[in-house]
Amino acid sequence: ETETGDFVIDDEVIKSIFKIRNEFSHKGTYGKAAIIGGSYGKMGAVVLSTRAVLKAGAGLTFTVAPKCGYEILQTSDPEAMFIEGGKDYIENFDVEETAVCGIGPGLGTHEKTAKSLLNFLKSCSKPLILDADALNIIAQDPANLNLIPVKSIITPHPKEFERLFGKTENSFERTELAKNKSRELHIYIVLKDHHTQIITPEGKVFYNITGNSGLAKGGSGDILTGIITSFLAQKYSEHEAAILAVWFHGKAAEFASEKHSKESMLPSDVIKEFGNVFSELN
Ligand code: APR
Ligand code: MG
Repeated sequence: ETETGDFVIDDEVIKSIFKIRNEFSHKGTYGKAAIIGGSYGKMGAVVLSTRAVLKAGAGLTFTVAPKCGYEILQTSDPEAMFIEGGKDYIENFDVEETAVCGIGPGLGTHEKTAKSLLNFLKSCSKPLILDADALNIIAQDPANLNLIPVKSIITPHPKEFERLFGKTENSFERTELAKNKSRELHIYIVLKDHHTQIITPEGKVFYNITGNSGLAKGGSGDILTGIITSFLAQKYSEHEAAILAVWFHGKAAEFASEKHSKESMLPSDVIKEFGNVFSELN
C-alpha cells in the first residue's frame, strides 16, 4: 500500500491470487470463454484475443465473428470454435449462457453492430469484459453507460476513457474521475497506460509496474482482453482476474523483449511467452 492508500501490484499480491491447476480436473473446471468481435480488415484483433484466451488456460474457447473471419479463425486458432455472428460485421451477440464474454476487439462501429450491442447489454445481467469498439459504441451516448452490467471490466486506453467519461486536465484528475465512475456504475476500470491502473467499485486503485514500451503497438490491448476473459472463465473473481491479467500481460512482454527487443517484439510474441510466466508462477 502506498502513502495515498493505493496499491502496487507486487509479487505478494500475485501470489495471493494465483491458483495452481488441479490435476483432478477437466475442461469444465476451467470454464467457457467467448471473444466477440472482428470486422473486415480487423480480424487480426480477434485472432490475437482468441489466442490469448487459449494460451492463458481457459477450458473451452469460442470466437463470435462475422462470416468473413471463418477461415481465418479456424486456421489461426484451431482450438477455438467459430460462431458466425453476422455476415460482414457482428449483429448477433448471443453466445452460450455460461460463457464469459470479452467484447470489442476489431468489432467496428457499424450502425447495426452498435444497435445489437446495446440490445445485448440491455438483456445481459452477467459481468462482461468490454474493450475497444465496444467502448467506442457505448461512448456514443452517455446514457449507454448505465447499460453496462455491474461488476463488468472495461479496458479503455486514455483516448477511449476520454470518449466514455470526458476530458481531464491531468492523470491525477483522470484517476479521480475513474474512481467516481467505478463507484457509480459498480464496474472495474482498467485504465491502460505505461503504468496501468485497475480501479475497483470500492474506489481502490491498483498500480501495475510490469510491461514495457514494446507493448506500444497495435494488438497489445487485444491480448489483454483475451487474458482477462480467460481468467474470469477460470473462475477468478472480477477483482482477481483484472489484477492478475494486467500483471501477467506485462510480465509476458518483459520475456518477449528479452528475446526480441522492445522494437521488434510483436503482440503474437507476447502470447508465446505466457508459458514462461506460468512457469514462474507455478
Ligand atoms: N509501457 C507499458 N505498457 C504499454 C505501453 C508502454 N509504453 N504502451 C502500451 N502499453 C500497453 C497498455 O497498457 C495496454 O495494455 O499495451 C496495451 C495497449 O492497448 P491499446 O491501447 O488498446 O492498443 P491496441 O491493442 O492497439 O488496440 C487495438 O483497439 O483500442 C483500439 O484504437 C485502438 O485501434 C486500436 C485497437
Ligand atoms: Mg485497444
